[in-house]
Amino acid sequence: MMKPQYWFRWVSIQGAPRAVLRRKARRGDVFAQLMGGPQGIADPYSLIERMRPRGPLVRNSLSWATCDYELTRAILRDSRFGVRSHERVNVPKVLKKVASRLTPPANPVDPPAMLAMNPPEHTMMRRPVTSAFTPKAVGRLRDRVETVTEELLAAMPSGGSVDMVEAFASRVPLAIIFEILGFPDRDQEMFRAWGVEMTPLLDIGISWRSFSRAMDAAQKLNDYLDRHIEHLHREPGEDVLSNLIKGGELDDHSIKANASLIIGAGFETTANLISNATAQLLSHPEQLDRLRAEPELWPNAIEEALRIDPSVQTTARTAQDDLELAGFQLNKGDLIVLSLAGANRDPAIFTDPNRFDVARSNAKDHLAFSSGIHVCFGANLARMEAGYALRALFDRFPDMQLAAPPERRPLYTFRGYARMPVQLGRRAHTAV
Ligand code: HEM
Repeated sequence: MMKPQYWFRWVSIQGAPRAVLRRKARRGDVFAQLMGGPQGIADPYSLIERMRPRGPLVRNSLSWATCDYELTRAILRDSRFGVRSHERVNVPKVLKKVASRLTPPANPVDPPAMLAMNPPEHTMMRRPVTSAFTPKAVGRLRDRVETVTEELLAAMPSGGSVDMVEAFASRVPLAIIFEILGFPDRDQEMFRAWGVEMTPLLDIGISWRSFSRAMDAAQKLNDYLDRHIEHLHREPGEDVLSNLIKGGELDDHSIKANASLIIGAGFETTANLISNATAQLLSHPEQLDRLRAEPELWPNAIEEALRIDPSVQTTARTAQDDLELAGFQLNKGDLIVLSLAGANRDPAIFTDPNRFDVARSNAKDHLAFSSGIHVCFGANLARMEAGYALRALFDRFPDMQLAAPPERRPLYTFRGYARMPVQLGRRAHTAV
């Protein structure tokens, strides 16, 4: 049952910005439409292109925003900016104060999750988590990606049709997160449901209904993690979470928050990469032909998929002091929304940026994994998972086609598909 005090938290960090964004979006404000209007979900890129001519840094009623590549990268690497979970938008101070007094269940967007922390605490969280990914643990992950991919592909009906998201794209990353955290496979369905409920937390201006469902799911995940961590203290395994517990550097609450971050940051994002890349390849058969002729281009194709339709569209930073940026004066606490998707299509960096080109020479320069101290910690794991899974999928089902238009998830920070019906066609017996 939802605690009533969460309502105050929602009003502060979601409800107040929601009211402003909705009003502005109705009046045609491009930034507000991008941050949650229906067009921001259907086609964020045309809104970004309307924002770009206004200059590298744009002021709006809630925050600053940029879709400029150089500026985005510079801000992400600039120690004058930090992350601050409660100051996601400029709302009255009194509301922020009320919200900061309420302790939410451990979740990916509040401290002590490393994504919501600045140095030195950020470093204290990130270092032990990085060291828990030992070569042995990473080797197990690689083996698991191959086994799960092969099992899933073998279970697909040749000549039949499936929902690609349900049958494949979401299953590989979920199995890997389970391997990292040492969860028993029987609990996967429960986690898929919690994942769907919790991802809206990354958006600004979500409804009370979405927020309370997300908090309920976060609470259930917390209870589960409490029991699981207790179990791993008694019987540690060879997984990353057991390594973190054995390392003894983080207390259980910090372990729990960062485990929920790994679930939040690692599962949906990679599932979305696999489904977004599948959609690009199915709608650009000439690029797929090129990959068949030159399979060594596969790793670059993954980078290009991350560039052109990134699973994480935006992030944000807060000015830690009064400062000057790109000729503007910013005040301490000012928030800048950084459009990673916009940076990835900046024509100053990427020639003909709206073209999907698996051989693009600088595809890897994208900012889909961010940059600076919060740069995605699972980037190479995601590349390995998606690279193996996509190549195996297209090798195994070379005639695969969309059976109906795929449906987007109604989110704007995390971009991916809720459903993607495909006709599989014949099964080829090729090995990756
Ligand atoms: C395609 C897949 C993925 C994408 C697009 C992605 C994207 C990102 C981005 C953009 C950030 C930084 C946000 C910011 O700067 O504010 C980030 C951080 C992070 N990601 Fe990923 N991610 C992916 C997969 C993964 C995986 C598989 C894991 C874990 C196994 C993971 C764990 C993390 C963690 C722990 C952070 C926080 C790092 C920090 O704050 O220091 N991610 N990710």
